[in-house]
Amino acid sequence: MIASIGFPVIKAERSKLQDMNLENLPFGRIFTDYMLEADYDKGEWKNVEIKPYQPLVMDPSAAVLHYGQAIFEGIKAYKDDQDNAYVFRLYDNFKRFNVSAARMEMPQVPEEIFVEGIKQLIALEKAWIPSMEDHSLYIRPFMFATDEMIGVKPSDKYKFLVILSPTGPYYARPMRIYVEEFYVRAVKGGIGFAKAAGNYAACLHPTEEAKKKGYDQILWTDPVEHKYVQEIGTMNVMFIIGNSVVTPDLEAGTILNGVTRQTVLTLLKERGLTVEERPVNIEELIEAYNAGTLKEVFGTGTAATVSPIKELRYKDFVMTFDIDQWEVMPGVKKTLDDIRSSKTEDKYGWMVKV
Ligand code: COI
Repeated sequence: MIASIGFPVIKAERSKLQDMNLENLPFGRIFTDYMLEADYDKGEWKNVEIKPYQPLVMDPSAAVLHYGQAIFEGIKAYKDDQDNAYVFRLYDNFKRFNVSAARMEMPQVPEEIFVEGIKQLIALEKAWIPSMEDHSLYIRPFMFATDEMIGVKPSDKYKFLVILSPTGPYYARPMRIYVEEFYVRAVKGGIGFAKAAGNYAACLHPTEEAKKKGYDQILWTDPVEHKYVQEIGTMNVMFIIGNSVVTPDLEAGTILNGVTRQTVLTLLKERGLTVEERPVNIEELIEAYNAGTLKEVFGTGTAATVSPIKELRYKDFVMTFDIDQWEVMPGVKKTLDDIRSSKTEDKYGWMVKV
């Protein structure tokens, strides 16, 4: 058992913060002064420490470089106007991280390291939390296989790290989306629900193809009929049809159990909408669009928060949306922003104080 408070800290010589402007930040390019690092070997976590952000030295045979045994999480930290730091739904991301770990045959990271380590790191780096609207300190925990051995087997050794990046909005503008009918992101029994690095690598080529056609992202569909929708880009997807929010259910294990997804569904229910988590067929969306009942389409994710879709193209059928007329998505985004910036009461206990 590792002590739950106070991992050793190796001090950075100077802070990079004084050279930074924490406004209008691009996503994920700037990193703070410190990172947390821990090693797993022979069934045991050890060497947990917080140290200056720095490159890693790895053996060229490290298993992750060959077979991609790697997972990650995305979490965000905010500050209130009394300078208290909070991490949004830290325990939910912690649990999901270990669900991903189990699917990828990796060890569980204990709460003492994941949760307490992140709290200690955020306390140390509080000054890096931006206060501008739509900005936050993005927390990236990740784990990968470090066995020096190129046989295909679960690694005996792993590294767990947490790095931090002050950041602005991920998708800067409303998106045009291409409904994919050839490539697939996830199949039943696969790893679609896990936050595995390979899920993201596999999406790069199809997404670049969609970009060449003028779209920002892909709406993934099921691998058999290419009719049931899954996720958009790095986000869960929601459709406002009449007074319901309709979103793919988690049953098939092909989509991520999004923490922002759960959050937004809770807030929509609170606003009086009926939540329908079920298979969503693209033909049904077209029918609702033609009937004028498909009002809003948006994505949810930690990085993306809540991001509007202005166009959805399926074969030759194009659905367009006038975002200026929307009420539901802007309303729910505002409530979420207000909870995160402590302007509204956090009645669900989502903000974990550091
Ligand atoms: C997140 O929303 O945190 C994600 O995982 C998206 C990321 C791949 C940029």
